[in-house]
Amino acid sequence: MNGLAGKRILLGITGGIAAYKAIELVRLLGKSGAEVQVVLTGAASQFVTPMTLQAVSGRPVRQDQFDPAHEAAMGHIELARWADMVLVVPASAGFMARLASGFADNLLATLCLATAAPIALAPAMNQQMWQNAATQDNVMRLQQRGIVLWGPASGDQACGETGPGRMLEPEALLYRVQSHFSPGALDGVRVLLTAGPTREPLDPVRFIGNRSSGKMGFSLATAFVAAGARVELVAGPVALATPAGVDRIDVETACEMEQAVMDRVGGCDIFVGCAAVADYRPERIANQKIKKHNDEMEIRLVRNPDILARVAARPAAPFTVGFAAETQDPEGYAEKKRIAKRIDMIAANLVGAPEGGFERDENALTLLWEGGREQLPMSDKRQLAERLVAVVAERYLAARHPSR
Ligand code: CTP
Repeated sequence: MNGLAGKRILLGITGGIAAYKAIELVRLLGKSGAEVQVVLTGAASQFVTPMTLQAVSGRPVRQDQFDPAHEAAMGHIELARWADMVLVVPASAGFMARLASGFADNLLATLCLATAAPIALAPAMNQQMWQNAATQDNVMRLQQRGIVLWGPASGDQACGETGPGRMLEPEALLYRVQSHFSPGALDGVRVLLTAGPTREPLDPVRFIGNRSSGKMGFSLATAFVAAGARVELVAGPVALATPAGVDRIDVETACEMEQAVMDRVGGCDIFVGCAAVADYRPERIANQKIKKHNDEMEIRLVRNPDILARVAARPAAPFTVGFAAETQDPEGYAEKKRIAKRIDMIAANLVGAPEGGFERDENALTLLWEGGREQLPMSDKRQLAERLVAVVAERYLAARHPSR
């Protein structure tokens, strides 16, 4: 999985204080066997020198779009064709705007336009710049075109502020490159997932349910299979086809879901609670259809078991991931849930907003774990699931092998 032997990485560096971290990434990529061609923008050379990057990459650095020496040898079109992947580390707000608009006014932007290779960006900027509507607009446009964003992470920034905009660390970026080329990052890992709603019966014909479609959980199951995992999916009642390679167990109530999970959780490596499990169920289920008699009616509800918390509380618990759908302050509530349920990671999202969430094809998530967070911007649930699985795999492997 580590081997990048023979892979050709065109590594663009744009102007930003995080550029110094690109030096370490070039070194790590080279150590994994990749060939790395560094391309510096003018602004980047204010932060790192071509000499240093030539030394770590073992190749002359490219900077000038109209350099006659290089155009005579490997010109910019050949270079664009040469790459198996284009990686921009760090990607500044200005560069992302340039790319979103399709400008070809420097060598790196030209190469990005001219290449058929996949492009990944590792954004780094001041948190206000990241959150600016113009930047978010550009992010959306780039993602819609299939350009992948790795990060940014959140935390202390070089400018003294705190927030989203920190570049991912070189090791995390290396891992993303490795997963890109050998998607079997989770080869042989056992994953158990819950998905969809639960139905809590009142009588033979009625139930208490919710609006979960199961799409996120099913997309996650697909993405885990693609990453090489052996996947078991405990699904509530949903109208979705079973993804290829997934072992599906259908259940209806929260108690059935809990039983199905507990029967299978032993020996599982990662547990993801994606189901919208009813917190309460009717205390009694009528044997016959309930008839209307009075103007009012009371139904007494009792608490359902918290499946996620029970899995996390097991001795030798798997790496546990939960979801928190909130109508306000998603990160605040999600972090409280993460700590209360003692789970490794939580994916928070805002529901009740016009876009995203239940019954939608698109969603945005904020992933929170002890000492870290990552924002996965609005995208379709399939793409979102792939990104979520990449981060889960990274955190799972880091937890199992702390030296990574
Ligand atoms: N979950 C679970 N078993 C339950 C309830 C929830 O496994 N009985 C899991 C869900 O799959 C999800 C997370 O826990 O991963 C959601 O947490 P929860 O506290 O139940 O969310 P809400 O019901 O929205 O909580 P609250 O009403 O307290 O906001």
